Amino acid sequence: MSGRIPRDFIDDLLVRVDIVDLIDSHTPLKKTGANYVACCPFHTEKTPSFSVNRNKQFFHCFGCGISGNAISFLMNLNNLEFVEAVEDLAAFAGIDVARESNTHQASEKKEDLNSLYQLMEQTADFYVQQLRNSDDGKKAVDYLKARGVNSDCANEFLLGYAPDEWKALANSFDHNALIKAGLLISKEDGQVYDRFRNRIIFPIRDKRGRIVGFGGRVMNDSLPKYLNSPETSLFHKGNEVYGLYELLKKNPKPPQILIVEGYMDVISLSQFGVNYAIAALGTAISQTHLNLLFRFSPEIVLCFDGDKAGQAAAWKAMEPIFLSLKDNRSCRIMMLPQNQDPDSLIRKEGLSSFTLRVQSAQALSDYFFETLSENLNLSEMEGRAQLIGKAKPYIDKLPEGIFRELMLSRLKTTSGISTLNTFDSTSTTSKLNLKKNTYKAPVQSAPAKSARTATALLLQNPRLIHNIDNKDTNWDDLDIRGIDLFKNIQQVILSKNAINTGVLIEHYRNTANEKSVKALASLNLYVSETNIDMVFSDALNSLLKQGKYATIAKLETKAQNQGLELHEQKLLIKILTDK
Ligand code: UTP
Ligand code: MN
Repeated sequence: MSGRIPRDFIDDLLVRVDIVDLIDSHTPLKKTGANYVACCPFHTEKTPSFSVNRNKQFFHCFGCGISGNAISFLMNLNNLEFVEAVEDLAAFAGIDVARESNTHQASEKKEDLNSLYQLMEQTADFYVQQLRNSDDGKKAVDYLKARGVNSDCANEFLLGYAPDEWKALANSFDHNALIKAGLLISKEDGQVYDRFRNRIIFPIRDKRGRIVGFGGRVMNDSLPKYLNSPETSLFHKGNEVYGLYELLKKNPKPPQILIVEGYMDVISLSQFGVNYAIAALGTAISQTHLNLLFRFSPEIVLCFDGDKAGQAAAWKAMEPIFLSLKDNRSCRIMMLPQNQDPDSLIRKEGLSSFTLRVQSAQALSDYFFETLSENLNLSEMEGRAQLIGKAKPYIDKLPEGIFRELMLSRLKTTSGISTLNTFDSTSTTSKLNLKKNTYKAPVQSAPAKSARTATALLLQNPRLIHNIDNKDTNWDDLDIRGIDLFKNIQQVILSKNAINTGVLIEHYRNTANEKSVKALASLNLYVSETNIDMVFSDALNSLLKQGKYATIAKLETKAQNQGLELHEQKLLIKILTDK
């Protein structure tokens, strides 16, 4: 990994790869007319509404509204980030990803980070050596043994020991680097000392295995029980979880991921054969955590202590859960018996009983409605109204989709308000489709319609750029909705030599125009292949006419107010006599 991926590389890649081959390799396609179709891989359906167009290098589903180019397809299919999707697409095409050579500053920063990663690695090594080879390390080994951690497991998780000294690290590594890594604390008088002392060390790795932080546990009852690395340029608690790298190594596509509370829970579970558990790092589980985990598994089971605090934590997790529950993702809630955590429980009752608990964890919907209904009397109207009041704000957070529909219908059934329209305004499926599929045409003035037609056709057939003759057109004077986008697309096609829709829409990823551009690219204008040029030139002529009127109006006003310069007079005469 080094510099940015150059835009040209991405554009070339989108020309070189054929989206039909790409998608066909995941979801077999059938040819019908100009398009290839299949049942949509992004939502459940019986008849195909997912279509892929080879000329445009673009896919679109009429059912759920999803659309995009080859990169978007991979991003959506495998929950990838943009760069990851580009890398996978390049791999599919059998080429290496090009990287920009960095600017001086950027490369310096990179180097900085690299050396921090290195330092973390060396530190972890140091702690491991202390555990294995120092006299004091024996205490730590004894502690781990007493807790039943075997040596394979200690090795796998790189467990270590931070010696009972103020300057063990400080005497071994560069102070500035240690401070940046969060490993050294500096006092006002300039003195420095090690953050972790006399503790069992748990290195925290990111999903790619790089050490980004540490946790440290005391070996007695003193407080704080655990210390964690502070936020550094490598370590962001809200983004990382403990044990993900170790999990993925054993289990790259786990059918489910179990979220537990502590380091020791992850380690014990792993030792006993539950190789799909991770822990949040002493923070509440966030939407970022969930999105990260959903990239690897469709189901997440959240495990909580059975006590009051655990119940409160479970309920608190509802908001991030609801926000992240797209279709094809699901969550379950697993409450533990009082005074047990996964570590103690699996030691007590063994793998199969624990697995059974995971498998019979409560479905999110059951947990949600049961918890909400707990103190309500649903046999009374008041109770049912309260249920709606409490449930609705959560359900509103769910992304549009089947799960949301089901939750709403369950709310209707449970509250007995199925006959009212209370909820329908935001959620009927037809509305959902309409919203996603249709380019919202502004109130249709004829010129706006022409602009829309011209823009959609140009997006879908970039070759039409050659049919545009810009000489006499004063686009700047045109005050027509949508004309800016039309002009902008022209520029993009010219500057990129863009020859397909896929390349064009790539340009608009993460811009304000992305939505409109995708909608226009998917818009069916019912123009047959043979008529495209004609319809485009009609739309263009109508726009040009508008442009001329606007220019005439402008020049005439100027003539009346301040008079025209010679070239303006000539232009006016030319336009007026032109038609
Ligand atoms: P617990 O106190 O439940 O610890 O904290 P545990 O995992 O059961 O640990 P053992 O079994 O006593 O060793 C759960 C998690 O909360 C965070 C840690 O991430 C811990 O694993 N925590 C806890 C802290 O960050 N600081 C603390 O002082 C305590
Ligand atoms: Mn514990």
